[in-house]
Amino acid sequence: MCGIVGMCGNSDAVPVLISGLKRLEYRGYDSAGIAVSLPDGLESRRSVGRLSNLEKRLSTKPLAAAVGIGHTRWATHGEASERNSHPHFDQENRIALVHNGIIENYQELKAPLLEQGITFQSETDTEVLVQHLAACTQDGTEFLSALCAALQDARGAYALGILNQAEPGRLYAARLGSPLIVGRGPDGVYIASDVPAILPQVDEVIYLEDGQIARLSENEVELFDLQGNPVSPEWKQVELEENAVDSAGFETFMLKEIHEQTRVLQGLLDRYVSGEQVLLPDLNLNDEALRSIDRMMIVSCGTAFYAGMYGRLLIEKFTDLPVETDLASEFRYRDPKLSANTLVLAVSQSGETADTLASIKMAKEQGCPILSICNVEGSSLVRESQHLLYTHAGPEIGVASTKAFTAQLMAFALLALHIAKLRGDMPADRSHRMICELRGIPLCIHRVLEQREHIQSIAEKHHDGPSSLYLGRRFNYPIALEGALKNKEISYQHAEGYAAGEMKHGPIALINEALPVICICTDTEDEVAEKMISNLREVQARNGRIIAIATEGDTRLDGLAGDIIFVPRSLERFSPMVNVVALQLLAYYAAHARGTDIDKPRNLAKSVTVE
Ligand code: AGP
Repeated sequence: MCGIVGMCGNSDAVPVLISGLKRLEYRGYDSAGIAVSLPDGLESRRSVGRLSNLEKRLSTKPLAAAVGIGHTRWATHGEASERNSHPHFDQENRIALVHNGIIENYQELKAPLLEQGITFQSETDTEVLVQHLAACTQDGTEFLSALCAALQDARGAYALGILNQAEPGRLYAARLGSPLIVGRGPDGVYIASDVPAILPQVDEVIYLEDGQIARLSENEVELFDLQGNPVSPEWKQVELEENAVDSAGFETFMLKEIHEQTRVLQGLLDRYVSGEQVLLPDLNLNDEALRSIDRMMIVSCGTAFYAGMYGRLLIEKFTDLPVETDLASEFRYRDPKLSANTLVLAVSQSGETADTLASIKMAKEQGCPILSICNVEGSSLVRESQHLLYTHAGPEIGVASTKAFTAQLMAFALLALHIAKLRGDMPADRSHRMICELRGIPLCIHRVLEQREHIQSIAEKHHDGPSSLYLGRRFNYPIALEGALKNKEISYQHAEGYAAGEMKHGPIALINEALPVICICTDTEDEVAEKMISNLREVQARNGRIIAIATEGDTRLDGLAGDIIFVPRSLERFSPMVNVVALQLLAYYAAHARGTDIDKPRNLAKSVTVE
């Protein structure tokens, strides 16, 4: 969603702001802007659409200053237009402010301002906040105290970057519920929505906590709480390397990330499996705590929700624990009868998804222990959780999740084995066999990646229809859903994922010679394979175009499927990690053929930080 960057340094901030905003493009945006502190006041440039439009604006009307803030906006309150884009100013242009999040009580704050005769230039909640902040300074209150007062009045979520004309060498920042970091390096101090945005500039960062304000000047960073009391900053060394956030010669980040999956999954096995033992150092759940749990509830959104569906099946298979899954956006409004014995497990790549965060906050209030499977250290979710399992997939820049998803699946596989062992639900020899099978998964993925050209040719044959249907059963049902989601997200072709057994209850009406039906038929244990093949016959009988994902050497699909992607043999319970790679490539090349903007699909944001 919105991205924030800011600099307070000893050289021109504008190129740093633009480069930072480019590095935040992946979050999704529809307008952008910057503001700087000049000796005679604050100035800004804003434009709708891609950052190149803002760069054009800057080339005709340049700006240069050592202190500035920048923003990419993903429209929520008000259309994507120049007047709604950030930075926003108070009526007298004394304060400039960029904001990520939502000020829920903006109408309430706006009413008295309207009565005072303040005129508003935009339809945004952000402009209300900056006008309210200006009003808090009216009686001569010192800026930091006015900011504390204004933020105490605001309800909702925010990450803020603020310039005050009266303090041209300073930059203010604040955080509540939306991510924001402060960084420092040889040329100055910075703020940003995430570390990659300012990676070339900084050596150390502070992950701001909720309710903290930062005051930055060229050589100093001071932190305060919302009452204005000083807080000691906790600097952390940046460990990310620059090559983690470039596209490494691939035509898109998404293609690079699809290819990284072999390494990411191997990395998880190396990190978390020692000999025949699964060791999860940040889990912090001992045998006793685990035995007291009598139910698990997995909550997440989008792709992470499908990972949760898979996790449920696996934990149910390996342990005696009852497990439920729910979409975080639904869960938070349910009455799910939680207790201190319900382990609530959140899954999230970003750790900043608003609904997921709200769900675990609700569960915490009801006394539940919280375990998170998350990719981003220092994220809001991580800070809310007592128990952690990092997916260590590295920064995922493509909006459509790929390596973070397979890493979540692997994390679930390891977690399920770990829980089963600690609860005494799985004999050691079976656990060893499972680990041995898991060790084979990275190579299977590599072999799917080797078939990239074959998968591309299939995608090019079928990409032009209006719709497609994805079918799977049991462990591969979530993968059918994920395959369809990938296709929708990046190729803009309607796609529907379905449990194959449900096809006869409705979607079968869609089948004709124009409909590609992608069927996942890799069950080598033959528990659901026959049923899947019956479903294929039903599709064939109605002239549907069958594209099958099948196991190497399986001849049962000969004459049934028009196109087959053969994948190496793996246990059905672990095959989702392999099969989804074929579906990611299928969606990727369909999108490629349809000429879409694969890394930044329309309307999508990488992390959905608002409800
Ligand atoms: C994945 O391709 C999507 N862009 C989206 O569904 C995503 O998985 C969802 O928004 C959840 O994000 P999170 O993992 O960062 O919480």
